[in-house]
Amino acid sequence: MAFVVTEPCFNCKYTQCVTVCPCDCFHEGENMLFIDPECCIDCEACSLECPVGAIFHEDAVPEPWQEFIALNAEMAPNCPSITESKVPLAGKHCRSETI
Ligand code: SF4
Ligand code: F3S
Repeated sequence: MAFVVTEPCFNCKYTQCVTVCPCDCFHEGENMLFIDPECCIDCEACSLECPVGAIFHEDAVPEPWQEFIALNAEMAPNCPSITESKVPLAGKHCRSETI
């Protein structure tokens, strides 16, 4: 089992999540982050940290975002590791203005 980064991360990438992961499970794609399910120990720390609520346990991913479970597993091993926060993308799609 693992936690999963979903749609609200897209074009946001706040990256607070990466600083609390005890196992360095996060990988950075161009528009969003991914969690390596082989790495995640289900500690929930990242989920509590994300300001846009993008991270769910894979058993609790909302129906419209189910595809992100496979996407995280597929993309994480192909993207560079990220362990330090950086300036968010906070792009057009990002909900930052509504927080
Ligand atoms: Fe890392 Fe814990 Fe989040 Fe898994 S649930 S990615 S171990 S912070
Ligand atoms: Fe994305 Fe939230 Fe992390 S927006 S980068 S999952 S803090």
